[in-house]
Amino acid sequence: MYLKIKALPENVGFIRNVIAAFCVSADPSIEILNDIKTAVSEAVTNAVVHGYKRTEGDVSVDAELIDTKLYIKISDSGAGIENVEKAMEDFFTTDVEEERSGLGFTIMRTYMDTLRVESKIGAGTTVLMTKELLHVDR
Ligand SMILES: Nc1ncnc2c1ncn2[C@@H]1O[C@H](COP(=O)(O)OP(=O)(O)OP(=O)(O)O)[C@@H](O)[C@H]1O
Ligand SMILES: [Mg+2]
Repeated sequence: MYLKIKALPENVGFIRNVIAAFCVSADPSIEILNDIKTAVSEAVTNAVVHGYKRTEGDVSVDAELIDTKLYIKISDSGAGIENVEKAMEDFFTTDVEEERSGLGFTIMRTYMDTLRVESKIGAGTTVLMTKELLHVDR
């Protein structure tokens, strides 16, 4: 699935729901679906507020289901991140005035199975995440 949409706060919920609908065929639990929705919201919100700093731009979302595993890629062509390793640290934020907590990447890492971030200053940022959708009772 490929979706390209304007990077606006009001589109965050739409993208989150599209991804959830995309996953439904794999029959995930509500809990897993909520984890994915939370992580996707964080990534898209970052594109809106940090990538484009609330100016115009597009966010694109690539999603693929291979067996019962979700592969998702969220990209913007915005500002980019100077130091990805630092940006991914818990509580790191460049947005102190807006009182952000710097926990977006922490949330993505916690709720998904894998998280990878690729970024280039002036070119944009891509967030790659995977999640096994099959729920196994222990
Ligand atoms: N798409 C992006 N484009 C440019 N910079 C980004 C992007 N995503 C994240 N960043 C940078 O990484 C930092 C950390 O992101 P993270 O989501 O963890 O925290 P936050 O957005 O600052 O706060 P919170 O998500 O808790 O509101 C941001 O403050 C920003 O500097
Ligand atoms: Mg964030």
